[in-house]
Amino acid sequence: MQRPPTTIMPLIASLLALLILGSAAQAQDPARHGGALLKEFCSSCHAIGKTGNSPMPGAPPFRELGRSFDFDQFPRLLQRGISSGHPAMPEFKFSDDDARAATAYLRSIQQ
Ligand code: HEC
Repeated sequence: MQRPPTTIMPLIASLLALLILGSAAQAQDPARHGGALLKEFCSSCHAIGKTGNSPMPGAPPFRELGRSFDFDQFPRLLQRGISSGHPAMPEFKFSDDDARAATAYLRSIQQ
């Protein structure tokens, strides 16, 4: 029988440790996790930071959403799937945790 490749064991162990640490960091800082999600899914059209214009003209910068949205309702909106009725905007659906995290981030950048 072949011996297990012991050299890759430490590598696997450290990868696992990174994964665990990574998800712990997410749990501790939902706003940061939310920011990363919005960056991935929304930043091609929306400005997601405290400054800057949206890449797509007509897509409201996220820091101004507080003017038209009640953030207490926002997680539910993200979970149900947000659709502005604008054909350019794809339909998104967030999990409960992700919706809460994204909303925490949005709250943190409002003007
Ligand atoms: C492909 C481009 C695109 C992407 C990607 C995109 N949006 Fe939009 N979004 C738009 C445009 C354009 C509008 C303006 C629509 C309008 O007012 O007619 C808009 C409007 C909105 C509005 C305001 C809707 C309203 O009724 O006033 C919200 C909230 C929003 N987007 C959230 C998001 C979120 C959250 C994401 C990522 C999960 C996202 N968008 C990704 C293009 C995009």
